[in-house]
Amino acid sequence: MRIDIISVLPELLESPLSHSIMKRAKDKGLLEVHVHHLRQWAVNEYGTVDDYQYGGGAGMVMMPEPLANAIESLSASRAYDAIIYVTPDGKRFDQPAANQLSMKGNLLIICGHYKGIDERIREHFVTMEISIGDYVLSGGELAAAIIVDAVGRLLPGVLNDETSALMDSFQDNLLAPPVYTRPADFRGWKVPEILMSGDPKKISEWRHEQAVKRTQERRPDLMQD
Ligand code: ADE
Repeated sequence: MRIDIISVLPELLESPLSHSIMKRAKDKGLLEVHVHHLRQWAVNEYGTVDDYQYGGGAGMVMMPEPLANAIESLSASRAYDAIIYVTPDGKRFDQPAANQLSMKGNLLIICGHYKGIDERIREHFVTMEISIGDYVLSGGELAAAIIVDAVGRLLPGVLNDETSALMDSFQDNLLAPPVYTRPADFRGWKVPEILMSGDPKKISEWRHEQAVKRTQERRPDLMQD
């Protein structure tokens, strides 16, 4: 999978996408992420990419021209399966959305800043608008990093144990069951006996029960449909 990201602050994306599982995905050649500085397509030599909003009001708006040129120039080299704008008024991102995106080949993500991007770019280029939650970030980069991480780890071969992504919280609309490691007795707090029974069927049943219990207690909304 290839993901291109257009940003005015590419530095914000460097670290989150260069470690751990994202690094492994890239090293294995399963995920390519290219971050493009929007200033390359600035309207003048000063690197201008934003301007005051029509109608007045505080906050700058990202101009249509640099964004349109950036999108068109990147689209000339490959067809994107989705051109995504990350924005608080987009559709809420969740595990099914991550699963869906992980089946695509080429994604383009546009990070907004300031007051956002000119509406005409949303109307004429953007095919999907995603919010990572009901709060406002200072820019789209962290949202983009979250999406790339959630999608990248689902790509076949990225995680060592192929089943582990399937065991994540939210797959099957259930939260993940509790997990334990050594020692079996820590300060008198014991690991549930069943996990040391060596009986895979019983362990799997226990995990399922725990996942259901945890979901009922913490996120009953997930089980409603
Ligand atoms: N940009 C700013 N806030 C955001 C959010 N909550 N989700 C996605 N992009 C954003």
